[in-house]
Amino acid sequence: MTYRQKFFELKKIKNEYVNSTVVKTLLTDDGGFHDFTELIVHFDNELKNENKIDDNLKRVMNGEPLQYVLGYTYFINSNYIVNPDVLIPRQETEQLAIGALVYIVKHFGKDPYISIADIGTGSGILAIYLKENLPTAKIIATDISEKALEVAKKNAKLHNVDIDFRCGDMLSPIKEKLDVIVSNPPYIGGPETVSEQTLKYEPHLALFASPKTKYYEEMIANLKNMSDEALLAFEIGEDMEEELTDLLENEYPGVGYNFEKDMYGKVRFLYILKKKEFDNYA
Ligand SMILES: C[S@@+](CC[C@H](N)C(=O)[O-])C[C@H]1O[C@@H](n2cnc3c(N)ncnc32)[C@H](O)[C@@H]1O
Repeated sequence: MTYRQKFFELKKIKNEYVNSTVVKTLLTDDGGFHDFTELIVHFDNELKNENKIDDNLKRVMNGEPLQYVLGYTYFINSNYIVNPDVLIPRQETEQLAIGALVYIVKHFGKDPYISIADIGTGSGILAIYLKENLPTAKIIATDISEKALEVAKKNAKLHNVDIDFRCGDMLSPIKEKLDVIVSNPPYIGGPETVSEQTLKYEPHLALFASPKTKYYEEMIANLKNMSDEALLAFEIGEDMEEELTDLLENEYPGVGYNFEKDMYGKVRFLYILKKKEFDNYA
């Protein structure tokens, strides 16, 4: 059977988890093509492994996330290994990675000799993206999950970057003075706001925090141990702006901070500077 024939066969499927992106991705994966455009060029080629496509499709139809079925995903156009030990990287986190890089370059220059920590690294995406773009920086990445770190280490190898991975609770494995912390920590209060699919398949360790702001509070409190120029870059929950503003205004009156919105207009990112210097960052 050819890709063309299989494509139109699969397009007829009616299932809540199967859409045209899933069909295109399964066929592109079978051919080892770079993207669907490349697949179309070879649309009349024979499939390589139809049984595998059908098996993968069955798993997706049963609700398993496509990224776990395939064992990889894309983050800022680059390939990363994922499995159920790590959260599947989200689009918002791409915005955090790029935003953090922009802030770091503006604040520390293009080739900074600084120490950056990615706290709760999961698949390692943030640490690896930053190391690829800031090769002179020292990057430490922590996670409390050994299994997540195994995935992150494989991804660092895949991307050929040198990252200092450490297992432990939040900042506890880090003794050195940091210049930057970037983090997308767990920030969901309870299961009500999480999709059934996420709840069933993704690691709960990556999702939930009680109270929701506890990891941010811990990282902000650590500002005192960081360098004078320190920068924090966080992804946050969409309902956290008020609570985090109160915390910063009441307990850290000297710091500068900027909340930023995602593509849907929701406030999803928080950047904090130890010294108030955000005037030129707009
Ligand atoms: C929301 S996920 C983010 C993963 C990855 N950085 C990303 O953006 O896709 C949070 C990560 O924090 C880790 N984590 C949870 N509790 C932690 C703790 N107390 N200390 C360190 N890491 C923790 C989880 O294992 C998970 O990998």
